[in-house]
Amino acid sequence: MRVHAVDHPLVAHKLTILRDENTPSPIFRQLVDELVTLLAYEATREVRTESREITTPVAPTVGQKIAEPRPLVVPILRAGLGMLDGLTRLLPTAEVGFLGMQRDEETLEAVTYANRLPDDLSGRHCFLVDPMLATGGTLVAAIDYLFERGARHVTCVCIIAAPEGIDVVNRAVGDRVDVELVVAAIDERLDENAYIVPGLGDAGDRLYGVV
Ligand code: URA
Repeated sequence: MRVHAVDHPLVAHKLTILRDENTPSPIFRQLVDELVTLLAYEATREVRTESREITTPVAPTVGQKIAEPRPLVVPILRAGLGMLDGLTRLLPTAEVGFLGMQRDEETLEAVTYANRLPDDLSGRHCFLVDPMLATGGTLVAAIDYLFERGARHVTCVCIIAAPEGIDVVNRAVGDRVDVELVVAAIDERLDENAYIVPGLGDAGDRLYGVV
């Protein structure tokens, strides 16, 4: 897997406010949205385009448009939903599918509880979005799922990743170049409850106002 940690002052600034325990949910949601838009610029670098003839008010010319089949954006429920708009703002023609995956808090294994994806993903570039890459179990299960259905390329967009989670995904996918991770920060480690340190706490709870 290719890993790209986005090094940009706006990303660092917004991430610092996001991490702060005093940041309330409405600001947290807005910052996630802004961060994802910044990450999306990097994450879409390898979207396939094809030549299109158009005519400007001045002359005919040949440009590039996003090729078919359309990219597919897949938020992993529930926290990934908070990242959906940020990505589709830059990729408005993308199709959107949903994967409901949850970490079993005892076994820490990923369990799929909902799936709304096209059956055939042949040739599709898929963008998996989930704010926190912690143990990696959910992401590995989701990546496998997309490739089993024929995906051509999987780009994972996360806000914070733990080194342990990146190792797990790397061990599962090896050095395939058609899997990428675009992330705002790689943190220190996981704690004994599989929370990212320093992280930002529970992203779903902070997005949706539980705390
Ligand atoms: N999921 C979260 O929301 N936060 C973590 O730190 C780890 C997993």
